[in-house]
Amino acid sequence: MTQFPLNIIQLDTIDSTNNYMKALLKSGEPLKPYTVVCAREQTAGRGRQQRAWHTEKQNSLCMSLCVPFEGSPSITLLCALGVHKALQHFCHTPLEIKWPNDIIAHNRKLCGILTEGVNGYAVIGIGININNKVFPSDIAHKATSLHLLTGDAFSLEETAEKVACSVFEILEAHHGKADESTLRLYRNLCANIGRKVVWQEKSGVATDIDPDGSLVVSFADKEEKISFGEVTITDIY
Ligand code: BTN
Repeated sequence: MTQFPLNIIQLDTIDSTNNYMKALLKSGEPLKPYTVVCAREQTAGRGRQQRAWHTEKQNSLCMSLCVPFEGSPSITLLCALGVHKALQHFCHTPLEIKWPNDIIAHNRKLCGILTEGVNGYAVIGIGININNKVFPSDIAHKATSLHLLTGDAFSLEETAEKVACSVFEILEAHHGKADESTLRLYRNLCANIGRKVVWQEKSGVATDIDPDGSLVVSFADKEEKISFGEVTITDIY
């Protein structure tokens, strides 16, 4: 893997590393290349669909990086591939991607990614359950961690560096846009494909990933390209 000269801003406590990165970008201060914001603790971590994101000091990795946004929504698929590649090095359990960018193992969530746009940049917020041993009861049945998968203890700093380099590597190599080769890779890892899914209370079967990054779902009446919202895979979370 390429070693990028990362500029890591290590914070102790912050509301959200995505908020911090967005404020940096809005401030107009020139940002060093490969800046990554990490926090030991987030007090108001945010997930997709306006949900809260649970983190635990020392055990959860909270980080945000940013890249100039070149206009393709498929950037979020590339980020998932980058994180997937880094995390797969740490465990034998086959990891999958739940569209658009959850990393899952044994049908439980290991990592979530929140991509937000600001001033021509994509801010990519990555939350990974690393050394967590237990989760709050509302998510206990659907979350997992690297520790629970392997029995090992991981360094948050080392993991953050590996994940950041892997994401920068794939984004640079493909100019922030999924091409045929990355789409093929994504399809092979995508847990949705061939499974029953629910979107906006409609059931269908996920059949493909469109080149623009949307999920193709075959509903009873028609086929649709889903580009937003929550798609649930029936019988997992
Ligand atoms: C999701 O699956 O809903 C996305 C979760 C993203 C969480 C990360 S943690 C670092 C960054 N800061 C945030 O407030 N959110 C993202």
